[in-house]
Amino acid sequence: MNSDNKRPTEDLNEESIISRLSTSDFVNNIVYYPSVQSTMDEARKFALSGSPEGTLVIADEQTSGRGRFNRSWISPPGANIYLSLLLRPSANIVPQLTMVASLALTDAIRSFLQTPEQISIKWPNDVRVLGKKIGGILIENSFGGDISGAFSIIGMGVNVNFDPQHYPDIADGATSLQNSLGYSISRLDLLDKLIGSISQFYQALNNGKNLVREWANNSDTLGTNVRLTWGHQAFEGLAISLNEDGSLVLQSSDGSVSAFPSGEVSLHID
Ligand code: BTN
Repeated sequence: MNSDNKRPTEDLNEESIISRLSTSDFVNNIVYYPSVQSTMDEARKFALSGSPEGTLVIADEQTSGRGRFNRSWISPPGANIYLSLLLRPSANIVPQLTMVASLALTDAIRSFLQTPEQISIKWPNDVRVLGKKIGGILIENSFGGDISGAFSIIGMGVNVNFDPQHYPDIADGATSLQNSLGYSISRLDLLDKLIGSISQFYQALNNGKNLVREWANNSDTLGTNVRLTWGHQAFEGLAISLNEDGSLVLQSSDGSVSAFPSGEVSLHID
């Protein structure tokens, strides 16, 4: 990092990423774009043309970055991490990818924080520091049917050397590593740590590890009263647990218990 609070002189580009991540067996193909509409779309094209698990698409800027529920993801150049990773998991572990991704992102960001306990996961996979969103995860699955086979794409956006205050839509609810630390960090260092963490959690999942307990230990949602929107319906209750498939179990004031799938529900907590 620079001592004058400026952006580090290193920067993301194809060469720096490839030389930094070259020791990873997990990521076997890296595709870098200075600017692209969305890394999700590019990763999808690679998946459909038969690219293997471990293809990583990363961009310095996205012109149509998207989040869950088709919200836009602010993606200016020179500041943040925008990546999509192509995986080809067996169908039975696909629901747990949301835990893999959120735990990996939490782990990576935590390693840079001076106060590690400030970070938490808002169900299903918003990573927050002191209750403000620092990173988001979008997972898109295709269950195959043609020769390109089934695949999952984990998309991650991380606010790194970026000031959300310059963007009124997210100014209240978002933060960045730079805002949390008071100085900028190397995106390459964070990327390296992040890919290592994804690889670790994904391997653990493939080896049969149940990630629910670890996820629960990092959650700021369990044990709190929440409001959920599922389609046009609203629900309120105490978030009591997480099922192995990543669905959130809510207890309503009448005592009834229901589970809500992560893909379709939007959660509101204060
Ligand atoms: C969310 O919190 O709603 C998920 C945000 C996911 C954003 C990332 S940035 C890289 C990848 N490309 C996209 O267009 N979206 C994801």
